[in-house]
Amino acid sequence: MQREPQFISIFDTTLRDGEQSPGCTMQPREKLRFAHQLAALKVDVIEAGFPVSSLDDFAGVQMVAREVRGPVIAALCRSLPVDIDRAWEAIREAQHPRIHTFLATSDIHMKFKLQKNRSQVLVMAREAVRRAKGHTDDVEFSAEDATRSDLDFLCEVVAVALEEGATVINIPDTVGYTVPEEYKEILQTLRRKVPALERAILSVHCHNDLGLGVANSLAAVEAGARQIECTINGIGERAGNASLEEVVMALRVRRERLGFDTRVATPEIYRTSQLLSNITGVAVQPNKAVVGKNAFAHEAGIHQHGVMASPTTYEIMTPESVGVKTSSLVLGKHSGRHALDQRFRELGFELEPEKLAQAYLLFTRLADQKKEIFDEDLVALVNDGLSDGADAYQLRAVQATAGTHSVATALVILFDGEKEITETASGDGPVNAVFEAINRITGFQGELLDFHLASVTGGADALGEVFLRVRFPEGTFSGKAASTDIVGSSAQAYLKAVNKVIQRVRSAEPIVNA
Ligand code: KIV
Ligand code: ZN
Repeated sequence: MQREPQFISIFDTTLRDGEQSPGCTMQPREKLRFAHQLAALKVDVIEAGFPVSSLDDFAGVQMVAREVRGPVIAALCRSLPVDIDRAWEAIREAQHPRIHTFLATSDIHMKFKLQKNRSQVLVMAREAVRRAKGHTDDVEFSAEDATRSDLDFLCEVVAVALEEGATVINIPDTVGYTVPEEYKEILQTLRRKVPALERAILSVHCHNDLGLGVANSLAAVEAGARQIECTINGIGERAGNASLEEVVMALRVRRERLGFDTRVATPEIYRTSQLLSNITGVAVQPNKAVVGKNAFAHEAGIHQHGVMASPTTYEIMTPESVGVKTSSLVLGKHSGRHALDQRFRELGFELEPEKLAQAYLLFTRLADQKKEIFDEDLVALVNDGLSDGADAYQLRAVQATAGTHSVATALVILFDGEKEITETASGDGPVNAVFEAINRITGFQGELLDFHLASVTGGADALGEVFLRVRFPEGTFSGKAASTDIVGSSAQAYLKAVNKVIQRVRSAEPIVNA
């Protein structure tokens, strides 16, 4: 007889822990756009940010709280009155607000980071949860670096948080140090020694420093955890967090074995992963489980033959179950606006008339350069090409020359909202010359950390997609853009990073990370 699965709550922290990974900073409107997609994905909780960390983050969390309906909206705060009040201020208009307060409990963190002893930390935990409960009933308490904490002390802190009414207790593996069996033992001991824990939701939050984030999260479920904190594409501090798509698909595919499932709308997974990559400009590694380009690609002849006979030979889940389309409809020069609109809708994009007009213009330009336009091209066009009017500079034109025996030169024309500005520069190559010209116009001097190019589809006329990361004195920002001309996509991607740093400078805020 089949067991009825129980549901694990999926707490998505892409907009908070994920956003803390280098180059993944998001602007408030980008956070809002992504949060809407998380709601479509049907996650249970969206951790929208860390409001005290910057004005931008506060604004992003507040927008999400005001506009996104369905999931619980959580805001992170240290166990300090000013943080807690600021978090509440940001989420008070949410349909279901949650304050998430955290405090380190390991000896290492207490000594070197907090410079507090155990009794002081116990008092802080009590006061933090009490203060948060003064604002809202739904309060999550996290014992930071729990897996390296003295277990008896961890039990004491958790008991105090529960006495004050915490509704969710999170036991993070902050530095990705634990292993599955050990993590289970920690959670089992906590449940045994702190009986009040049965009245709260036990949550886990696993980092991936040893590549065990997902394995530890699944082990935790066996030990009684009912909330898993994770991120899309596994982004997060250092090696990242447990990846949402892996956790969710492991629970779905192995539901009978594990006895648990989630409410996640899995066909939305791929789109969510792509949207994140487009917003942050950080590419998904090709062999990434579930959402990587190769996740459903079969290279070896024997495998291809097997899959043709029956996909079940080498596929444990269907591409469709996670929203990966295997056949990509082709549009071309003669496709009209209606066909384009229809295809966008099928791909999950509901474009307002103004955006559709913009998209159609880009589409016709692309169709002049490229005979067949695939779904992947359309997605790149929407994600990279549509301007929301908030950027400080827009690219009007770029022209570059290069050759084996000549110095590369570039001419760039940018629009600053009022006028067009033209600059020329030379460089080591055409791309470098273009970046230099952009630096001259904008006055921002970035250092290129990463640059890579991939083709969106096959074929000699494929769109070339550029991903890059640039370090400015104000922080590291990434950019991504696609065009049939790789110098053009490099210019667009670089300008995106520059526009991000300009927005950060305009909001002129120091950043505090959790
Ligand atoms: O890794 C961690 O411990 C955290 C907490 C703030 C939950 O991100
Ligand atoms: Zn974390």
